[in-house]
Amino acid sequence: MPEDLEGVVATATRLSHVDGEAGRLTIAGYAVEDLAPYASFEEVAYLLLHGHLPEPAERVRFTQDLAGRRVLSRLVLEVLHEAAATQARPIDALRMAAALLSLGREDSDLPHAAHYLHQVFGAEPSTERARALETYLNTVCDHGLNASTFAARVIVSTRSDVISAVTGAVGALKGPLHGGAPGPALDMVFEIGTPERAEGVIRAKLDRGERLMGFGHRIYRVRDPRADVLARAAERFYTSGGDQLLYDLARQVEVTALRLLRERKPERRLETNVEFYTALLLHGLGFPSELFTPTFAVGRVLGWSAHCLEQLRDGRLIRPQSAYIGPTDLHYDRGPTRPAV
Ligand code: COA
Repeated sequence: MPEDLEGVVATATRLSHVDGEAGRLTIAGYAVEDLAPYASFEEVAYLLLHGHLPEPAERVRFTQDLAGRRVLSRLVLEVLHEAAATQARPIDALRMAAALLSLGREDSDLPHAAHYLHQVFGAEPSTERARALETYLNTVCDHGLNASTFAARVIVSTRSDVISAVTGAVGALKGPLHGGAPGPALDMVFEIGTPERAEGVIRAKLDRGERLMGFGHRIYRVRDPRADVLARAAERFYTSGGDQLLYDLARQVEVTALRLLRERKPERRLETNVEFYTALLLHGLGFPSELFTPTFAVGRVLGWSAHCLEQLRDGRLIRPQSAYIGPTDLHYDRGPTRPAV
């Protein structure tokens, strides 16, 4: 068995299926490209939690219920203010605040995606901005047994609580090999700056043995279908008044990166992953790069929670074994004067 559990089936789930060979992501029965650009985040949340899309009356009730659970307690707000005052990274502030969530919530009538934009930017967003973010949140809401979801399921499998599981999941998400890649992916686009520099900068990175952020995936051996959904959302957004030059530059960077990855690692199948267009879309919406991973968490918390409920309902304690490869014949020297304990 591989030490990183690659290819090992560790649980059964009705929530999402990642077909890495065909490049297909199914979310509770729906192809991501049929669901994410059109459904509201509340509908997708309902789908993951109940196994079917809501009827209109259920949708209204569920949306109101969700909005009614947003009040944050004074203590959580204090922690967030303190984190801001000491310039903690937003993803660390999120982890700290998540751990305190059992204490309370915050109010608003806006739908989830619009509410989040309102909270971050202080003004009610346009329909296009809300749709773009909603498409993003839906696209990343769940993705099989990825590292943070697995971490959440392991935590809750001990019959610990969902808040603890979500807190642990945030910790797993922030690493650059999982949810921390979009910031560096965008940095690379900015570093390149103009299309004609793409080749030289990317070659130099590969020469130094660096990984190109936003490319490669453990499961997908073809293009990540979420990249297409987000590329289309980003294109719609950028062509209707955004920075078209940046969008064109990013497309050029992608084409060059893929060509050079094929040249350097012909035996690997390294394709564009979700993070590349995440960076572009969230940047277009005005998010600073340190909010990219926390915004990923805003969508993925749906999958974490649904997996926790599934695990609590159907699962057993997750307790794999390890293969011991250390020495066995060592002897502890008690010394002449030390008494036996
Ligand atoms: N750029 C350059 N080379 C890459 C690469 C990338 N983005 N991703 C993988 N490779 C190379 C590795 O260096 C390795 O080469 P080697 O065999 O010559 O040493 C080979 O491809 C396989 O890498 P491996 O680490 O086995 O793949 P993995 O399945 O463990 O890694 C990721 C998957 C996602 C961690 C990896 O592709 C990566 O680091 N990508 C960049 C970070 C990123 O975008 N993360 C977000 C994922 S959604």
